[in-house]
Amino acid sequence: MIDRWLEERREGREQSEEDIRGFVRGVLDGSVSRAQAAAWLAFVCVRGMTPAETVALTRAMTDSGERLRWDGLTGPFVDKHSTGGVGDKVSLVLAPLWAALGRRVPMLSGRGLGITGGTLDKLESIPGFRTSLGPAELRRVLAEVGCFISGQTRELAPADRELYALRDETGTVPSVPLITASILSKKLVEEIEELVLDVKHGSGAFMKTEAAARELADSLERVGRASGLRTRALLSDMSQPLGRAVGNALEVEEAVACLEGGGPPDLRALVVALSGCGAEAEAALDDGRALERWRRMVRAQGGDPEGPLRGAACSVTEVSSPHAGVVHRCDAGRLGRAAFLLGAGRLRAGQGIHHGVGLVLAAKRGDRIEAGAPLAFLHHAGGRGLEEARRLVAAAYEVV
Ligand code: URA
Repeated sequence: MIDRWLEERREGREQSEEDIRGFVRGVLDGSVSRAQAAAWLAFVCVRGMTPAETVALTRAMTDSGERLRWDGLTGPFVDKHSTGGVGDKVSLVLAPLWAALGRRVPMLSGRGLGITGGTLDKLESIPGFRTSLGPAELRRVLAEVGCFISGQTRELAPADRELYALRDETGTVPSVPLITASILSKKLVEEIEELVLDVKHGSGAFMKTEAAARELADSLERVGRASGLRTRALLSDMSQPLGRAVGNALEVEEAVACLEGGGPPDLRALVVALSGCGAEAEAALDDGRALERWRRMVRAQGGDPEGPLRGAACSVTEVSSPHAGVVHRCDAGRLGRAAFLLGAGRLRAGQGIHHGVGLVLAAKRGDRIEAGAPLAFLHHAGGRGLEEARRLVAAAYEVV
């Protein structure tokens, strides 16, 4: 069977849903070898997949493990997925905001890899906050608070874990159908009704150009809808970081400022746009309802919303502007890499991170700045990575 499947993929012939399911099953039970699976993925990466095949792959991956069940709870059940970026702390604000507006938000999130931060790492800046809740706890927190943010368990979409590890090893991650199936299979197991996607483009994003982001957004919307989810995708700019804080605990502080009705305007604007709730969302941020849900969620997951965050004892070094002018570029890619070098991120899954380190941007694109005024503050742990990070931050800015 696998010989035919490989030949079909190599020749670019459409495969049936049954054959795609057979392939996914075979990857998990070992009847398809790792070499065969890698070849199959490489053919998809080069020759693509039809929309019907992408839907079939998504379904097969969703059905490869268990699903969460919310029997007895009333919805609407909604979630958001971001393709990831530098300083992206939207989930920390949006989950409690939606809960305050009567939605139920069963948000399964991931950890950071490379220059992209992960929501779970950010939340673990809060001492005691637990990000690996079991099914009974997920249900309890969702019932009591209206939202949770927790990690994916091994029982959910196991085919994605296998296939993603193979893609990572074989250079087959950048394929729109494979990314689509990977993202949606992990969201479909949450048993939600509506999914909002934040597809980012720019130097700090997975998709570097707006055209590439548009292609992925269209595929996610098409396959999401064909899988029975109300799906809405927004494109957003990641040529400069979102907000002013980059790094785990620093981002939690900024998210809380947004939940208090303040924080940087670009963060608030994106949260409100993704919520789809306009003035209602603005009001819940301003009158403390979203903040109150955040505090309840943090307590329900074991943290103290009023307590100090991890890694607060960092040293701070300033990078200043060599001359006066207007900030023309504030490059997310370089700034993300600088935060990574200070210890905010990891290269490989399983590596530890430092929760307190990162950057606070004093200037962003369009800001007028005097000579010698700060561009950014580097929060570092005893100088680790400082010199290279300082060089990257200086190179990230163009002041003209
Ligand atoms: N994020 C995912 O979850 N899967 C991919 O394939 C790429 C990015």
